[in-house]
Amino acid sequence: MGQGTPGGLNRQGLPGDRKQDGNDKKDKKFEPAAPPARVGRKQRKQKGPEAAARLPVVTPHTKCKLRLLKLERVKDYLLMEEEFVANQERLKPQEEKAEEDRSKVDDLRGSPMSVGNLEELIDENHAIVSSSVGPEYYVGILSFVDKDQLEPGCAILMHNKVLSVVGLLQDEVDPMVSVMKVEKAPLESYADIGGLDAQIQEIKEAVELPLTHPELYEDIGIKPPKGVILYGEPGTGKTLLAKAVANSTSATFLRVVGSELIQKYLGDGPKLVRELFRVADDLSPSIVFIDEIDAVGTKRYDAHSGGEREIQRTMLELLNQLDGFDSRGDVKVILATNRIESLDPALLRPGRIDRKIEFPLPDIKTRRRIFQIHTSRMTLADDVNLEEFVMTKDEFSGADIKAICTEAGLLALRERRMKVTHADFKKAKDKVMFKKKEGVPEGLYM
Ligand SMILES: Nc1ncnc2c1ncn2[C@@H]1O[C@H](COP(=O)(O)OP(=O)(O)OP(=O)(O)O)[C@@H](O)[C@H]1O
Ligand SMILES: [Mg+2]
Repeated sequence: MGQGTPGGLNRQGLPGDRKQDGNDKKDKKFEPAAPPARVGRKQRKQKGPEAAARLPVVTPHTKCKLRLLKLERVKDYLLMEEEFVANQERLKPQEEKAEEDRSKVDDLRGSPMSVGNLEELIDENHAIVSSSVGPEYYVGILSFVDKDQLEPGCAILMHNKVLSVVGLLQDEVDPMVSVMKVEKAPLESYADIGGLDAQIQEIKEAVELPLTHPELYEDIGIKPPKGVILYGEPGTGKTLLAKAVANSTSATFLRVVGSELIQKYLGDGPKLVRELFRVADDLSPSIVFIDEIDAVGTKRYDAHSGGEREIQRTMLELLNQLDGFDSRGDVKVILATNRIESLDPALLRPGRIDRKIEFPLPDIKTRRRIFQIHTSRMTLADDVNLEEFVMTKDEFSGADIKAICTEAGLLALRERRMKVTHADFKKAKDKVMFKKKEGVPEGLYM
């Protein structure tokens, strides 16, 4: 009790004199003036220095034991933590060292590295290399390069200044060519093509049948055509048909756009063509599709600039590859263009690409079919009468029809309507026809 209420009762003396306490109590009874002495302030002033000097009376208690245990546990934990931090610091240098080593190797390899060709191995540590830009060099091979894998003709990594061989490109196929390979089949299928039945039939005969049933041609004793060329007005479905072929066949499909064959450095274009056909051969049966062939296949004439001559050389390489020293039985070629008259006749002569498939503007029946295809997923109002557009006298290509449908859908969307009305189609048609006459490119709707 004495501990619990510190200053209150025994303000007069040390905790020893309990006898006096009794007297005090008696005194208090007689002194009504005592309350002022109890006012907080005064009391504290009196008690201050005394209380600080006084030691608390320590009585052993289970609570104290518990607290001790707890503190010990905390101490253990802190010790562990200290050890951990110390270890952390001790181990860190190793990581840093590894990092340093790595950066040293990187320095040695140099970044960026140039890509070149290994022409010849001279001895264990020396080789002759060439890059696409310049002459050939006699250089050293660094020790960490796996020499077993080096062989003449493979693609290597070279230091950008001293040109020593610092690595090997595992995949010796030109990266450009692997980009052209179509891994995922395009979504378009024959069902998405309106009309063009004759064209589909012909391309199947010329491209698919020789790949799937070569024995039929052997029986008759003729060589299957090497490929076909698709030509016709813009937007008549040439690219679409080629995509459908890619979708339906299990053969490897390599797709190139003519302009991609035009390269910066001399000799790179023909090299790319060679590489393209080599990859096609490796992955055969395969189909090579070159879109917009007019980029490289124009008529030969007296070219004045080096660039033009290079383009012609690219085309000559293409001719050469089409002839092929070794018969390319399993490689079929599809070319597409909308300006067949400007192509070099040598490209189209019998024996090379002699199968020409024309894509005309759609007739009435085909137009109806194309409208059906492109509106099949649209929500049409009841008043829509597509016959009006099918029977019109204006000349539509397949791409125009697609543009009309898209435009009509956009008009409805603009007014937040869920259904496309006849008026939308009318407006859309006027717009598309207007743009066509004005000569605004329609690529916007492709
Ligand atoms: N017969 C068709 N059936 C269905 N859709 C078609 C048809 N013809 C064209 N289209 C539509 O027109 C679009 C453009 O066609 P595509 O890309 O095949 O034209 P293209 O003939 O390759 O033109 P370009 O010569 O300009 O390259 C296609 O995406 C397709 O939606
Ligand atoms: Mg096209």
